[in-house]
Amino acid sequence: MIEEIIRRRSIRKFRAEDLTKEQVNLILESARVAPSAHNRQPWHFVVLTKKQKNEVADKMIEVVTKKQVKDMSILHTAQIIKEANCLILVFYTNPSKEDTRDMDQQSIGAAIENMCLQATKMQIGSLWIGNTYIIKKELEQNYFPSGQLVSSLALGYSNQEPNPRPRKEIKEIVTWMEEEL
Ligand SMILES: Cc1cc2nc3c(=O)[nH]c(=O)nc-3n(C[C@H](O)[C@H](O)[C@H](O)COP(=O)(O)O)c2cc1C
Repeated sequence: MIEEIIRRRSIRKFRAEDLTKEQVNLILESARVAPSAHNRQPWHFVVLTKKQKNEVADKMIEVVTKKQVKDMSILHTAQIIKEANCLILVFYTNPSKEDTRDMDQQSIGAAIENMCLQATKMQIGSLWIGNTYIIKKELEQNYFPSGQLVSSLALGYSNQEPNPRPRKEIKEIVTWMEEEL
């Protein structure tokens, strides 16, 4: 198996060391070449650093506190965003197209995973973040009004070496309908 697939981890602690624009662009390049249904490439990426990135985290904390949201993982994710060096917002560019939606979401997933693997290859830590959904409307309005926020990706130099998280056994997730080879 490709080494980076095995080595990739969700990184939740980052060192205070800047990534270069070239490094982030190389990671974005891996998203650009990802497969997509009918080659629609239904994605747009907005890179936030410093103040704008921290504002996302602050807003998440504010919403959780004000609306008394029970999901504490959102607060944890907000702290991770603060520590990360940059946050890539991933937008879906064709949200009004109901019939292509399911396939497009898969395409975007492929693009995000490519970025995680490219980051791993470059010894850069990444965290795929769904929890930014809590301020979805605001992020859409501020950064890409014609699109829909799908996920975000935090990047930075890792300050931890997490063990692999448990996975289901292959026999739990695969059904062979003929004799195994
Ligand atoms: C769509 C998606 C959304 C996720 N959202 C978050 C998140 O908001 N916060 C977080 O800490 N981790 C998030 N994760 C990371 C998962 O928790 C992590 O991938 C899983 O626990 C397996 O651990 P590993 O990535 O280290 O193998 C997300 C992962 C995916 C694929």
